[in-house]
Amino acid sequence: MIENTPGSLLPFTGLNTMEELSLLTTALNSTTAGITITDNTQPDNPIIFCNDSFEMITGYKRQEIIGRNCRFLQGTDRAQPELDKLREHINSGKACRVELRNYKKDGHLFYNELYLSPVKDAKGNIRFFIGIQNDVTARKNAEETLVNEREAMAREVAETTQRLRENEQYLASIIETVRESLIVLSPDLIVLSVNHHFLRVFQVTLEETKGRSLFELGNGQWNSEQLRVLLDQVLPTSNPVLDFEVEHDFPTIGKKLMLLNAYRVELEGKYKDRILLAIEDITERRAMEMRKDDFLSIASHELKTPLTTIKGYIQVASTLVKADTNPRLVNILAKTEKSAERLNNLISELLDMARIQSGSVKLLMEEYDFDLLVRETIFEFGDTVPDRIIKLEGSTDVKLLLDEGHLVQVIVNLLSNAIKYSDNSSEVNVYIGRVGDYVKLSVTDKGVGISEDEKKHVFDRFFRSQHIQMKYPGMGIGLYICDQIIKNHNGSLWVESTHGEGSTFSFTIPVNQSL
Ligand SMILES: Cc1cc2nc3c(=O)[nH]c(=O)nc-3n(C[C@H](O)[C@H](O)[C@H](O)COP(=O)(O)O)c2cc1C
Repeated sequence: MIENTPGSLLPFTGLNTMEELSLLTTALNSTTAGITITDNTQPDNPIIFCNDSFEMITGYKRQEIIGRNCRFLQGTDRAQPELDKLREHINSGKACRVELRNYKKDGHLFYNELYLSPVKDAKGNIRFFIGIQNDVTARKNAEETLVNEREAMAREVAETTQRLRENEQYLASIIETVRESLIVLSPDLIVLSVNHHFLRVFQVTLEETKGRSLFELGNGQWNSEQLRVLLDQVLPTSNPVLDFEVEHDFPTIGKKLMLLNAYRVELEGKYKDRILLAIEDITERRAMEMRKDDFLSIASHELKTPLTTIKGYIQVASTLVKADTNPRLVNILAKTEKSAERLNNLISELLDMARIQSGSVKLLMEEYDFDLLVRETIFEFGDTVPDRIIKLEGSTDVKLLLDEGHLVQVIVNLLSNAIKYSDNSSEVNVYIGRVGDYVKLSVTDKGVGISEDEKKHVFDRFFRSQHIQMKYPGMGIGLYICDQIIKNHNGSLWVESTHGEGSTFSFTIPVNQSL
């Protein structure tokens, strides 16, 4: 049994004082923390003890440490705010914890977490200080990296915000500059914002506009059932409203023709369900177009009269000139007649177009045997191109109401296009058939074909394909007229084509016309 020696540091161990001291020193040297003891009763509080770990942490040998004040570890780095706190606690004899920048013997910086406790004598005077030191460089560096990263991130956020703000201002300035009125609408068609152009054009204030329903604006100018239906479709289907025309007597600006286009704002997040409505004043443009149409109409009428006279005189001259007179003269007359006929056709096309534009086309609907009409048209047209083969296939066995003159014009136009844009040696195929309640006619050639881009425009007025423009003359109104004629018959005309391989133009017309 081990006895408890009175006054022993380690009771019940049975060790004598020297043995106890050795055991405790071993314990102090076994810890990874540095331990120092300073003697406060001596001048400048010198170190009187340090353990092995303190040597390890600082890189100094014990003989270089004992007898010095611990500040030697600070080198010249003496302006550390934590030192003030430390001095204060040492002077008032209180325990404390500080973090100091210290330097190893080889000059390397390390962060020293120092715990300091005073040891007092019986009278309450401070005899010793015990310091426990930990090298916390790794943690400190990690903290510093974190702080740096946080700062870098904050800088980046600030920069990005600044960039976004600039982008926003940039976009806003574009929106304010465009010569088009723009309105942003909520899903229930409430005006969220408008650009200055809108306010300027409609001579209204932002207060009169923002927060109100689109249909309440002005004197209900946009309150059209048809527009309402179209706008209701924009968000669920993402289908835009395209070129919707509104003619209206606007409160402050008078009678105007406006073109409306509405798109879903294709953004995720905050602006997801918004509609952008663009309003363009096309009053002037439309008036210009109408003036141009009027001019074309008048010009073609005026040209037609003298041309008819010229044609008449050519015919008279042809009969007067006997076949046995100068063959050069006969030839010149024949060429003149051909040119006059070409001019006549061009003017007729312009007149047709002018009539379509003014809506003054009158249809002469009569019942016709469709197959017979097609056969006869091909036959007659074939005479004008004797060296080309036009093959007809199929039949409809249908009699239907149609305007003969107009329909023949369409068939002839499609045939002459097919001949014009294909090789002299290739044949043109016509197919007719009945499809449901419609008759269908297709004209197929193996000619130059039409590119994808151009397909959308072939029925547009004055459209001329880029690659045929030079080679083939024309005004680009033939197909426009055909399309309008077929539309007037409640049918549709379309094209299928592969560039370089040929085209098929087809139309359908309902069998039971109710015109
Ligand atoms: C027990 C004890 C241990 C100390 N350990 C360190 C230390 O590891 N590193 C250090 O920079 N200062 C340490 N100090 C603090 C300095 O010795 C000194 O008190 C401090 O630099 C402030 O005093 P000064 O202004 O006289 O330098 C310790 C002080 C005591 C009493």
